[in-house]
Amino acid sequence: MELFLDPGDPRPRASQLYDQLRDAIADGRLDPGDRLTPSRIVARELGVSRSTVTEAYGRLGAEGYIEGRAGGGSVVAAAPGPVRSRPVSAALQPTARAAAVEPYAEFADVAATYDCRPGRVDPTLFPMAAWRRCMMAALDGSPGQYGDPAGSPDLRAALAHWVVRSRGVAAIAEQIFVTAGAGHAIDLVARVLLEPGDTVALEEPGYPVVAALLRSQGLRVVGIPVDDEGIVVDALPAEARLVYVTPSHQFPLGMVMSRRRRFALLDWATANGAAVIEDDYDSEFRYTARPLEPLQRLDRDGRVLYVGTFAKTLSAGLRLGFLVAPASLLSALRAIRQVSDWCPPTTTQAALTGFIAGGHLDRHLRRARTVYTERHRLMWETMGELLPAGYRRLPAVAGLHLTVRADHSARTEVPETRRALRRQGLLFSPLEPSYQFSEPAVGYLLGFAGVPTPHVVPAVRAFTTVLSEAGQPTESV
Ligand SMILES: Cc1ncc(COP(=O)(O)O)c(C=O)c1O
Repeated sequence: MELFLDPGDPRPRASQLYDQLRDAIADGRLDPGDRLTPSRIVARELGVSRSTVTEAYGRLGAEGYIEGRAGGGSVVAAAPGPVRSRPVSAALQPTARAAAVEPYAEFADVAATYDCRPGRVDPTLFPMAAWRRCMMAALDGSPGQYGDPAGSPDLRAALAHWVVRSRGVAAIAEQIFVTAGAGHAIDLVARVLLEPGDTVALEEPGYPVVAALLRSQGLRVVGIPVDDEGIVVDALPAEARLVYVTPSHQFPLGMVMSRRRRFALLDWATANGAAVIEDDYDSEFRYTARPLEPLQRLDRDGRVLYVGTFAKTLSAGLRLGFLVAPASLLSALRAIRQVSDWCPPTTTQAALTGFIAGGHLDRHLRRARTVYTERHRLMWETMGELLPAGYRRLPAVAGLHLTVRADHSARTEVPETRRALRRQGLLFSPLEPSYQFSEPAVGYLLGFAGVPTPHVVPAVRAFTTVLSEAGQPTESV
């Protein structure tokens, strides 16, 4: 710990040192076992005699705050007397806008018998050996300097090839912007395209994290209903500057935006001078025939920003995603990124470049797709057999979770059902937070991808047993 001496302080210098160290130990800033800087070094750094420092250390030792360690030196004692919790200062408070951002409940990492949280992938499928080799090679070659805010040219070229080949996106390397995931890409797009107070239209129900993110930027966020074909374009307000959609696999209801609706949305954006974010967060995992062309490819006007993430295709912890942006926005995106975190991590980018070039990403996706297809089938079929009356499973052509919707309304949902599911050790996401603008439908998002195959049927059985035992609440409750 850095120690200071104040020449204007009337206390002896040894007392000044003693007080600083005692306060740090008592506040918990220094923990039991932490090593004190040797007295000789402290004396040299502060320009005092060594005996001044040993006097302070001697008093701390005599009062039981520190103890000598075999081999020399002093450490904070195992039980250094009463430790005060550090006083919490209320001098600084977040703005009302920042304080209104609710943390996403997903973060709780709790023990579970069946971890059916949506969006979770199976970490045991992660191709660790190949990734480790790519990371080692990247470490060997990486100079660790600041890089291009848009991402390394090699990775951007590799991603351009990959999205053209695997997702039918129309992109060249110059349009690819590497981000720290999908959320970061959306944050950057809003920063370069919108002013505080501008209107953004989101799907209702939708991904609540995006609503919170855009509100935190001072934007006016409105919810637009979705039907079987996707967002209801006729309900979009003319003043919306940006529309955020999940056309390949609507979050959370699972439908695919129809081709007709895709063209209607693009026409609307052109007529109203608006931009469209296409969040393609999990369509690598699809369980039916050929997907529809991405909005980004149908766009003739340069109004669509296509967002992808490696959170599902590889691992959420890598914090890597990308944006395919119209060339007209690239230099603003670069500048905005540079002034906040400068660039994506250079070593991880180099590793991912090697990983894609070596064919490991394609191999991993083929393998994971086979496993998730089976888990999807098992969850879908078992729900079909066991879901009690009053609940419906919604078809999902892609992705990592299934959504179950209850026929009853939020007013009549029994909180005991949720508690009983948690007592069974079943983790899920409730559907209700996906409704940000209207009366929520009651339901459940159950992930299958992260559940080991032999556990999928028991997990669904545990889920449906609780629902059956709870019975269906009546509207009069
Ligand atoms: C609709 C949607 N978009 C994007 C993401 C992933 O975002 P990120 O790459 O920021 O982790 C998720 C995660 O569950 C999601 O549900």
